Amino acid sequence: MNNMTRIAIIGGTGLDEFSALQNLRSKKITTPYGETSSVLMFGAIDGHELIFLPRHGERHNIAPHNINYRANLWALKEQGVSHIVAVNAVGGITKNMPPEKIVFPDQIIDYTYSRQHTYSDDNANSVMHVDLSLPYSDSIRRILQAAATEQGSAFESSAVYGATQGPRLETVAEIARMERDGCDIVGMTGMPEASLARELDIEYACCALVVNWAAGKGDGDIITMDVIEQHMRSGMASVRQLLIGALPALSKL
Ligand code: HPA
Repeated sequence: MNNMTRIAIIGGTGLDEFSALQNLRSKKITTPYGETSSVLMFGAIDGHELIFLPRHGERHNIAPHNINYRANLWALKEQGVSHIVAVNAVGGITKNMPPEKIVFPDQIIDYTYSRQHTYSDDNANSVMHVDLSLPYSDSIRRILQAAATEQGSAFESSAVYGATQGPRLETVAEIARMERDGCDIVGMTGMPEASLARELDIEYACCALVVNWAAGKGDGDIITMDVIEQHMRSGMASVRQLLIGALPALSKL
């Protein structure tokens, strides 16, 4: 591992644990912004070290708008994390984003509100206006794409991620508007995670798994948890393998 490289995986819905981790050690970190979603889990896969953090908590009990994104990112930075792969379950909007497709977005539109979304708050010494023109790390995205190609998974190498507030799903009209805006996929946890990572100068990329057609898409049926869970189970198995496959190259960044 490069001296400066430390990898973290932030797990999303369907990836609340990472049982492939060997020599698991956990550490509770207190931050100026409060508690992280869970203890940080340190471990290794085939000798490649990483930190795992499930953003919804170990019992999957923290809703997207209640996640303490600032504490999570701050704690990872404090532990020396330089590169993050964020895993997010999403709905598919455009026609090439069907359930179980793995997607590496390259852009974001943020529709969230009332979240603690910056370190430049009242207590900051100076206000930061970070550049977010390209919100995701190209070097991480290239490695994830290579790993997906290697394992033969269907994937999309670019997409616009629309981040909504949740926890409810969207209306048909909201998804139609998002499509007009240029969104390809929709999820509830992509922001402010990506911009906080940028504020802390951490390389960050998203590995999204489509687990349902967004409202009004596909055959237009209403969205049930059964459908979501079914796609999540088989899709997340591929995502786990992909992450394991990508680790050697990520560690060399
Ligand atoms: N909308 C928003 N977030 C989601 C969806 C969706 O359809 N599916 C999974 N996360």
